[in-house]
Amino acid sequence: MKKVAVIGAGLCGATAAAELTRQGYQVTVFDKGRGAGGRMSSKRTDQGYLDMGAQYFTARSQEFKRQVNSWLEAGLVELWPCTTALLSDEDGVSSLQISADQQARYIGVPSMQSPVKDLVQSIPQFTGCRIEQLSYRQQSWTLVCEQGLSYAGFDAVVVTLPPVQAQRLMAQSALPELMGSSAQLLEPCWAVAMHTRAIPSEDAIFCQHPKLRFISHQQHKKGRLPCYILHFNAEFSALHLQEPAEFWFAEASAILRQQLNIQDDITAVVAHRWLYASQNDQLSAPGLIDLPEQRLWVAGDWSFGGRVENAYLAGLKLAQAVIEQS
Ligand code: FAD
Ligand code: NAI
Repeated sequence: MKKVAVIGAGLCGATAAAELTRQGYQVTVFDKGRGAGGRMSSKRTDQGYLDMGAQYFTARSQEFKRQVNSWLEAGLVELWPCTTALLSDEDGVSSLQISADQQARYIGVPSMQSPVKDLVQSIPQFTGCRIEQLSYRQQSWTLVCEQGLSYAGFDAVVVTLPPVQAQRLMAQSALPELMGSSAQLLEPCWAVAMHTRAIPSEDAIFCQHPKLRFISHQQHKKGRLPCYILHFNAEFSALHLQEPAEFWFAEASAILRQQLNIQDDITAVVAHRWLYASQNDQLSAPGLIDLPEQRLWVAGDWSFGGRVENAYLAGLKLAQAVIEQS
């Protein structure tokens, strides 16, 4: 039986691992985080989860619609009954308008990572395990983690990290430079959770705003703490990347007061910095990147344009590539 190492347990890696396992491969998954989920991870608190990463997902392709339907049947995913709005800010004059649409938007329950965890639940996983080096000798791969432990004997390696992290792993492993300009594909995002008693009539607010890209409220998300999550846009996040959480709490509080007109007390809950969050649409998506002779593939959501659905499709394509080369 062929042994495959999957590095990264976000939706892309989990999908590739599940599909390869289904096809009879012996798969091991490695992730530096505490569990599977990656950018679909919600933060656990005593009062409920906080969706600090992906807020929801849509399904447009037949493959992903089929997968989402099976998650819906299993109770791992629900429709998010959100009311959408558009927050515009032109020359300091802001307006908030309901912008109703028919788009179905889904969430994992009770947390965003639920469907990802389910995909890999019966697959051997090493978590808290940051892979720092790869070596290929006599047609066999060995992985070395930051604690210095080695994992040997893999016929193929599937890398599903954000491109800068994939590039770093290749460089540390003295492998050819594969990423090129794709390394710049993902941009940062500061995400901030704030609590207030005020309950909004809109809970998915798209922003055309100098600082923000999205505001959501978790009131209609099962298992969540009912509070606001603000996502600052890539430009503003990059400009103030090193600022401490207090800076982001102050920004978030001012925006909630000025733009959403909230009068109640506002409490800061959590701020999280994502260094690699969203696709830079100015760069083209590269598809799968590979070293076919050594049976190594690199991909993620960024391979096909970002978004949860593209992470899933990238995972399927990775599995297909491994199978075709075996
Ligand atoms: P990731 O989820 O990033 O998985 C990569 C994994 O690799 C991670 O688990 C990481 O821990 C691990 N890793 C990294 N380096 C190493 C290493 N050296 N060794 C081992 N493991 C390593 N998409 C939507 O469709 N809708 C949204 O509303 C939405 N909102 C978003 C909001 C934010 C703030 C962010 C950050 C993302 C959002 N996205 C959204 C994008 C969506 O989350 C991603 O498209 C998707 O989750 C990416 O999955 P992935 O498996 O490709 O990558
Ligand atoms: P979608 O179809 O809901 O949204 C796509 C885009 O269409 C939105 O970004 C928004 O600009 C616009 N839009 C959709 N509905 C709207 C409405 N009712 N009113 C005003 N504008 C509307 O979902 P899709 O295509 O699955 O995209 C995923 C979402 O995830 C996007 O909103 C994207 O910006 C967001 N995302 C955020 C990241 C971050 O770093 N914060 C990272 C990756 C994705």
